[in-house]
Amino acid sequence: MSVTRSADILAEFGLLSGHPWAETAASPLTTYYACLHDLVRRERARRVLEIGTGFGLSGAAILAAMEEIEFFVSVDLGTLGANNVSFARERLHAWCRRRGVPVERVRVVHAGTQPGDEPRWTPDAASFDVVFIDGRHTGDALYNDLSLTWTLLRPGGLAVCDDLHDERFPFEWAGQTTRSFERFAAERAGEIAARRIWEEPRVPPEGASGLRPFGLLRKRGDSDKIVLPMSNEPPGLQTPVEPQLDVTTALELHAKALLPPLKALSDCVAAPQEFAFSDWLMMGAMALEFKPDFVTEIGRGSGGTTAMLLEVMSRLKGEIFSVESQTSGWDQVEPKLRERQPESWFAPLVLMDAPASGLEFDRHLPPGSRRILLVCSYQTEEWLRTCVDRLFPILKGRENLVVVRGVSDLRGEQIARSSAYSTFGTFQAPTKSFGVLHDWLAANRVTVGSPPADIVAAMHRNPRRWNALRRALLGQAYPLVGAGGHWIYFRVPRG
Ligand SMILES: C[S@@+](CC[C@H](N)C(=O)[O-])C[C@H]1O[C@@H](n2cnc3c(N)ncnc32)[C@H](O)[C@@H]1O
Repeated sequence: MSVTRSADILAEFGLLSGHPWAETAASPLTTYYACLHDLVRRERARRVLEIGTGFGLSGAAILAAMEEIEFFVSVDLGTLGANNVSFARERLHAWCRRRGVPVERVRVVHAGTQPGDEPRWTPDAASFDVVFIDGRHTGDALYNDLSLTWTLLRPGGLAVCDDLHDERFPFEWAGQTTRSFERFAAERAGEIAARRIWEEPRVPPEGASGLRPFGLLRKRGDSDKIVLPMSNEPPGLQTPVEPQLDVTTALELHAKALLPPLKALSDCVAAPQEFAFSDWLMMGAMALEFKPDFVTEIGRGSGGTTAMLLEVMSRLKGEIFSVESQTSGWDQVEPKLRERQPESWFAPLVLMDAPASGLEFDRHLPPGSRRILLVCSYQTEEWLRTCVDRLFPILKGRENLVVVRGVSDLRGEQIARSSAYSTFGTFQAPTKSFGVLHDWLAANRVTVGSPPADIVAAMHRNPRRWNALRRALLGQAYPLVGAGGHWIYFRVPRG
């Protein structure tokens, strides 16, 4: 967790009152400024550029975190009213004077950064360690600001973009900032060492509408080993070797949306022995967060996971390639689903009946597919070997997420007594078949996650947030939180 509290930083600058955002500044729910502070601190930044000064709150978080203030430049067109630019300048300079920081190193510029702005800002410094972009949000504004400031960022520097809300959020700019970010990232892919949307910064109210996601772009530099923060931990506290999926945030964002439709679908499927609803919901939320353009399901079983994946893919573009090598319950489930779901809902589904040896995965993979979700529900040695030997090499070159079911932690305690099961990592698994996967995970040093364990860890870090989430969002849907689960997820590292 962050060692810094937003309110403590702002108090140091006299910014807990005197401006319209006083409530946000003082709220214990506000992690936003602490997150920004921690980012800048971990960058050990000495030169920082900000677009969008506001009332100086973010500037305060940045200045308090700078290892040495070589210079800080904050640019704002002054559209907030209440003389926001002069107010911010006065508070930030007063802090400088108290701290013995020469005020000329902290420049608050009253100008705009967008084409046509009057007066328009002319950059007069470069080689910034960090640029923080929080100016105009709508249309192409973020794209323009990124283009303008990217050239001022030093190699290896970090661009932080505020308010990366996608279409699901109720903000005027929702979807526009994310489009700008994606467009810029795609156009400059060759200059970008790493990218990430970091969803920990938040302000009141509690819940998804308080999220203020940061889009982070690391400019390629001399050392491209620096990895962006990939989970809710403050960046830099961890040094993930591989990007980790942020399960906790995925759940908070997506579980709410998926809860009603999945509840309805679970009545059609009615196969509780196959999957606990909580696991279903959690896996759906993860899938939605990952945004696959191609899903391979190994083992259709009673069709529960297939239905859940169809619901997920009805919100995305792509295909579900569902393989079954034994008898499937899909034939019974499908007619019930057809009674309530439109024809188009089934369109992504490609059914395949084949034994492991007959799977020609390459042939079915659409050439343009870049994000693959593999859900493996078969725990036979043959299928796991097929995954390791034939599917993982294909996943290697693409963004991927692998979910393997039938692995237990706490629930495994019962079956672990049977000699057929043994421990690998912190999980229990059938010895014979999982040995294949275990060896591969160990040889490739792949980190394995377990959703229930991640939720429990997140709840320990921030019980207030998670207990509220549990009450408000999930209710009875999470009977198993804290009791372990029986699936794991990981990524096949790029080879
Ligand atoms: C959300 S506020 C910034 C908040 C501040 N970063 C904070 O967190 O405390 C956005 C700011 O962008 C400024 N702004 C809007 N359009 C702008 C433009 N075209 N050029 C520069 N600044 C602009 C507004 O005046 C406003 O102060």
